[in-house]
Amino acid sequence: MSLVSVADFEQKAKELLDPNVLDYYKSGAGEQITCGLNHEAYKRLRLRPRCLRDVSHLDISCEILGAQLAWPLGIAPTAMQKLAHPDGEIGTARAAGQAGSIFILSTLSTCSIEEVAEAAPETCKWFQLYIYKERSLTQQLIRRAELAGFKAFVLTVDMPTSGDRRADARNDFKFPSHLSLANFQDDLTQRFASKCAGSGLTAYVTSQYDSSITWQDIKWLQQLTQLPIVLKGILTAEDAQLARDAGCAGIIVSNHGGRQLDTVPATIDALPEIVAAVGKDLVVMLDGGIMQGIDIFKALALGAQTVFIGRPALWGLATDGQRGVEQLLKILRHDFDTTMKLTGCASLSHIQPSMVVHESSYWQHE
Ligand SMILES: Cc1cc2nc3c(=O)[nH]c(=O)nc-3n(C[C@H](O)[C@H](O)[C@H](O)COP(=O)(O)O)c2cc1C
Repeated sequence: MSLVSVADFEQKAKELLDPNVLDYYKSGAGEQITCGLNHEAYKRLRLRPRCLRDVSHLDISCEILGAQLAWPLGIAPTAMQKLAHPDGEIGTARAAGQAGSIFILSTLSTCSIEEVAEAAPETCKWFQLYIYKERSLTQQLIRRAELAGFKAFVLTVDMPTSGDRRADARNDFKFPSHLSLANFQDDLTQRFASKCAGSGLTAYVTSQYDSSITWQDIKWLQQLTQLPIVLKGILTAEDAQLARDAGCAGIIVSNHGGRQLDTVPATIDALPEIVAAVGKDLVVMLDGGIMQGIDIFKALALGAQTVFIGRPALWGLATDGQRGVEQLLKILRHDFDTTMKLTGCASLSHIQPSMVVHESSYWQHE
């Protein structure tokens, strides 16, 4: 059977992946309320299309932090992609390049910064950072990513500790011994693979990441690099304003795919207050729950400048390596093109906030 949607790829990936890896990829934190909300919230939004507007030529290209992109969709950082397929991050980065999309490489990748840079020189690449207790580790990653031609740093700010990921705890999820955290020396990988009970990732995060970081540490980062700094994991107008005041170039409205603090809102629901507070001052982006072109459209209408997918790229990778991600991106691109035409938008500037409303607005009768 042909795979024609992200949901089809997800189903296929579920058949192919090792059960522990599947649990690690798909699960959220706690009772997985937010994980579900990320998807359900899109279903509660209705489109208000316009008609008789020439859509014979679409232009959906955009510029984000100096990068020229074919369309406003990129790949969010997800750890350990070789668990899905031997192509790993190299496959995903190449597929992103083919599609004219941004690729964000996770600190916890199974292909190194240098390997990805060499294999995907044309792809616009950003590097995702955690701040390690051993600060020199973070400093070295910054230096290496700059040398390798990455164009921005994405500091993940929603992980002072790991979320309550019950599936990984039940499975005693550990880093498999045949792979390595490619950006680090072997001993750091071994700390992750260590034999403690419960989730190895939780133990790794607790022992390695600096949970004392504050807004002051953004200054520390800014001293280390001239590249734009994006904060990933912002969910309130208050923090968005602090990010702006700290001189960040952008933010990604994200709840880590529902994997950190359960019962925070869907990102699409958190977006409007953030756009209202800082939309004119810095680049507001979003991830979480994007499954179709229609979802991309809704996020843009509500003020995101670009959006990212996390799990969908993993489903593509698990299904057929780089080719699978390419295919998945083609489907999303076609879907987004179709949505643009059917809503009467020939360019991104034609997308208006009034084109998306909450379903309840159709029932507000006095
Ligand atoms: C398996 C997996 C691993 C992830 N690893 C990272 C990571 O290393 N760094 C990070 O900032 N976010 C990580 N994330 C969060 C994603 O960047 C992104 O916020 C989330 O997946 C978006 O939601 P979606 O999966 O619904 O698209 C991970 C998410 C998943 C599913």
